[in-house]
Amino acid sequence: MAKPSVYVSRLLVAPVMAAIRERFHLTLEPDIAPPSRETLAQGLRNAQAIITTLTEQIDETLLRGAPRLQVIANHAVGHNNIDLQAAKARGVIVTNTPDVLTDATADLTWALLLAAARRVTEGHRLVQTGAWTGWEPTQLLGAEVSGQTLGVIGMGRIGQAVARRAVGFGMTVLYASHKSVPSPDPTKPWQQVTLETLLRQADFISLHVPLTADTRHLIGEQAFSLMRPTAILLNTSRGPVVDEAALVAALNAARLAGAGLDVYEDEPLLHQGLLALPQVVTLPHLGSATLGTRVRMGQLCVENVQAVLDGRPVLNRVI
Ligand code: DGY
Repeated sequence: MAKPSVYVSRLLVAPVMAAIRERFHLTLEPDIAPPSRETLAQGLRNAQAIITTLTEQIDETLLRGAPRLQVIANHAVGHNNIDLQAAKARGVIVTNTPDVLTDATADLTWALLLAAARRVTEGHRLVQTGAWTGWEPTQLLGAEVSGQTLGVIGMGRIGQAVARRAVGFGMTVLYASHKSVPSPDPTKPWQQVTLETLLRQADFISLHVPLTADTRHLIGEQAFSLMRPTAILLNTSRGPVVDEAALVAALNAARLAGAGLDVYEDEPLLHQGLLALPQVVTLPHLGSATLGTRVRMGQLCVENVQAVLDGRPVLNRVI
């Protein structure tokens, strides 16, 4: 029997590519780099399914050119790169990869928190450039972490995982979210507060909301005006949740102390102002970047595609 035709928009990790090649016929060979729009359209033309990543914008025009398409399996938990309405209108199922990347993303959020608080990248540069002349009592003084207040905006799976890690640092956890979420440890309750209260009181503000029309530029000039001048902002969600120009202006005006960023408004471009600020730690969208996590994400995509093509219930259906 012929294998189903699937388009994979980018080269995924080797064990996942092996599983894909075993089960499916690839409409095009994927590349490590993002496909051009023409290549995307070509790959989709005869595909029954696409396994795509967050760098591909799957919109109405592309879907119109994909008459056989039954499922879009997004290799990410976020799905702002897909026009859900257009997919729904054409009866195309959309799936994502929740749960399997929660810990990796929460861990990376903490890497950013600690790096920004304790000036890890500045210290690294000092040593690496040979500019370090020895221990100094006033050198690279950072922010306290233990015992401080963590503010989590968006208390979904990743927000909760970030909050759970704060227990080890004896931190108070505030969160702003549509739903209330109890702390797993009743002796260390998480306090649900308004966004304004969180912005006013938190020492570390960590973003874990999906990108929607409501959350675009959620953190902008107004939010920065409420933050403590000692606050540190962390973003491992989606870049456009933060108004980058407003962030640069706020940092330059010392409205907040620093930032740890994994995501940007216009990836892979960054606001030039961010590059000039030593108190900003920048990573290249690495939230889910561990081999185990990427294998699990890929496996979920394969399972989701197979389920749709077999007419079975789908594990991670978005619509
Ligand atoms: C996601 O899953 O949304 C991540 O950003 C991908 O690494």
